[in-house]
Amino acid sequence: MDMSAAKEIAARAALDELPPSGVIGLGTGSTTKFFIDALGVRVRQGHAYVGVPTSEASRQQSLALGIPLLDDLGPWSIDVTVDGADEVDEHLNLIKGGGAAQTREKIVNYASSRNVIIVDETKLSRRLGERWPIPIEVLAFAHAQTARHLTQCGVAVLRTKDGQVVHTDSGNVVYDLRVAPIADPASLDAALHAIPGVVETGLFVARADVVIVATTQETRILRRLC
Ligand code: A5P
Repeated sequence: MDMSAAKEIAARAALDELPPSGVIGLGTGSTTKFFIDALGVRVRQGHAYVGVPTSEASRQQSLALGIPLLDDLGPWSIDVTVDGADEVDEHLNLIKGGGAAQTREKIVNYASSRNVIIVDETKLSRRLGERWPIPIEVLAFAHAQTARHLTQCGVAVLRTKDGQVVHTDSGNVVYDLRVAPIADPASLDAALHAIPGVVETGLFVARADVVIVATTQETRILRRLC
């Protein structure tokens, strides 16, 4: 499957989930990048959309396309947020944070009336953790101490790129926590949040209203029932 083409198809399908104008949360990642491009076209066609970006990368892309943005302070009343995911389980729970943006993404997600997730089919699994570790944003101070607690839940690996420790847009570090397939994501999320130094997890439990799953052949719309 051409994954990039599938991501673009999912991103374009998300346009159908938008109101004709309004405040749109802008996720982060390669799939959302296609969505922001498509939203930029809508703005140039005259639609009155205002964005709330979840990363510096999404901010820069949006500004380059002429999408007006709200400031970072909030509070916002966001109509719809469109974002990607690394893994989606059969209850539409998510793992996010492959791009180290999960904290801002979760804040924007919670400020949104509706959340639309766009993925290619490779992101689907039965239980979270089958395919992807959980990205955990950790305060830089004493992060090795925090990681020692994380290892009680799984194998925690400090994220690096080109030999350098990755820092989030907020200056924190990320541990990727490999766990066994997760039976109860809400309980695990609560346990992780109880560890001092954990800023935010990449577990998004019951936070997707719609998941758009694309291949190059078909697009499926999965809706959360309650
Ligand atoms: C960013 O931190 C992530 O939550 C992304 O939304 C997620 O990793 C999906 O990224 P891709 O669209 O690049 O697969």
